[in-house]
Amino acid sequence: MTLSKSAKKRRTIPDLLAMKAKGEKIAVLTAYDYPFARIMDQAGIDVILVGDSVGSVVAGYDNTLPVTMDEMVYHTRAVARSAAHALVVADMPFMSYQVDLAEARRNAGRLIKEGGAHAVKLEGGVHVAETIRTIVAMDVPVVGHIGLTPQSVHRMGGYRVQGREEAQANQLLADAKAVADAGACAIVLEGIPAKLAGRISAELTIPTIGIGAGVDCDGQVLVIHDILGLCEKYSPKFVKRFADVSGTIRQGIDDYIREVKEGSFPGPEHSF
Ligand code: KIV
Repeated sequence: MTLSKSAKKRRTIPDLLAMKAKGEKIAVLTAYDYPFARIMDQAGIDVILVGDSVGSVVAGYDNTLPVTMDEMVYHTRAVARSAAHALVVADMPFMSYQVDLAEARRNAGRLIKEGGAHAVKLEGGVHVAETIRTIVAMDVPVVGHIGLTPQSVHRMGGYRVQGREEAQANQLLADAKAVADAGACAIVLEGIPAKLAGRISAELTIPTIGIGAGVDCDGQVLVIHDILGLCEKYSPKFVKRFADVSGTIRQGIDDYIREVKEGSFPGPEHSF
């Protein structure tokens, strides 16, 4: 895909709001490093999320809880260096915003100042509204994240769809409104019934970005390793595999090993 001159301009938060108003879907993917971010940026992705999913898909942890601020700054910096077009959003990892507001502000600021992100994302609804408000007040845009929030894995008892019962659905509606009222510029809806996500999307003026939340969200986000078939550990129902990159990588590595063993690599063209 070749981008037109105007499409090459950096995506901004007002752009995302305008896209929602026009009914234009927002495409979001995660990236954690320079080469992946460069490829998706050149392909025209609207937003790159440096997710704390880096802990699961890159570091091999069982969940996102061990990811640190220093790790998020490192990965965000790599992504921000290669993203010329996309808006870069960085996740605030577990324990970077829960302790107190001053620490939340300092850590949000680090992701912007040291990481080069344009916005930060944090998980939770009503109970993090004050945290969102205080970060937004220092002009750092915040993306909310409600529903199946991976940092709450122990409370949820695993990665389960949220909001199936009426009381839980009403709580999620209240959470979405609290996040929007606190000044968030967008909100991720993860692992909730499609009908509920459609209702939240219709009621909010900020864009909703769905993951396992049906087609009526204003945009969609998936983890890059999942859509490319790079994560063979598990495959949730909401993931569509758009390519089998593991197969291609394995083939390349098999060929390399074979050529080294048989002595056909390096050939004269690779030697001095
Ligand atoms: O960490 C992450 O990658 C995320 C998305 C999957 C929404 O939060």
